[in-house]
Amino acid sequence: MSRARARALANLALVKYFGKRDVALNLPAAGSLSIALEPLSTATEVNFDPTLKADLVLLDGAPAEIEFAAKVTRFLDLVRDRAGIDLKASVSTRNDFPTAAGLASSASGFAALALAAATAAGLKLDQNELSALARRGSGSAARSIPGGIAVWDEGRMNDGSDSFARSIAQPGEWDLRVVVGVTDKSRKPIGSTEAMELTRKSSPYYDRWIETARRDLDDAVRAVNARDLEALGEIAERSALSMHAAALAARPGIVMWNGATVEALHMLRSLRRQGTAVYFTCDAGPQPKALCSSRDEEIAAKAMSESTGIVEVIRCRIGGKAELVGST
Ligand code: PMV
Repeated sequence: MSRARARALANLALVKYFGKRDVALNLPAAGSLSIALEPLSTATEVNFDPTLKADLVLLDGAPAEIEFAAKVTRFLDLVRDRAGIDLKASVSTRNDFPTAAGLASSASGFAALALAAATAAGLKLDQNELSALARRGSGSAARSIPGGIAVWDEGRMNDGSDSFARSIAQPGEWDLRVVVGVTDKSRKPIGSTEAMELTRKSSPYYDRWIETARRDLDDAVRAVNARDLEALGEIAERSALSMHAAALAARPGIVMWNGATVEALHMLRSLRRQGTAVYFTCDAGPQPKALCSSRDEEIAAKAMSESTGIVEVIRCRIGGKAELVGST
């Protein structure tokens, strides 16, 4: 087989990954836990084509920017090395996000690329190996391979072979919802690797952040196993705030939020004081997210849409694993 097409979902970390023990291999300093977000998906087709002289990368139907295309080629090189092939590929990738901008697409993108490229190259990888491969493109992509509620283990091996994600709950097993508030659709001013490295090297809080992340992961796994939203929500909120605290203390400090992000945090806490079990989280950007059960989704979505500075609201439920969607 030389052609394959795969679909993978974005994921939202409830226990954040923010710090690497190995930058080249994308090995995390601590494990993390995420929820796959249906319907935020990327579909990618890879075709290893003997007539091509160079890789050809299309993003949403148009030639991709040089930087993105170079990242895809570096990733394809890993797959070619492993499969022992030398063929160039055409790659066509589409983000099926309700809004194209402002949300992380690297997790869904590299998970879809890993599955499509490995299949097209004839590699027979199990889910753990695929997750470890996707990790090489973008750390968080490891978690989009198993989907559901996924734990990405820190791992101990220097080669990263035991640092992959596994699912601890599948869609349908828990009716969690995520309401994404979009505050700003422009590109992030600082990439995640750069932000992590600056924080590791200069933030006086970095070591404590990593210690907390490890404890938070153990607590979060227990909360998921007990289907305890209140416990999981509290952990998600403190994990996000601690990650941002570590980054804020870097030199120079990294401020990823805007005013609307902070407004949303206060709004969600005020809803909680009034009795709605809804919790705030936020990644390395300004978009606030609310975690709640399906019962409270309506209230959370309405409140998020009315919060100051929110330009769009996207409702998500727990999604599944990365899948092939027809290959020839
Ligand atoms: O996968 P990366 O390198 O884009 O890093 C993602 C980092 C955060 O989104 C901030 C946290 C996470 O665990 O997804």
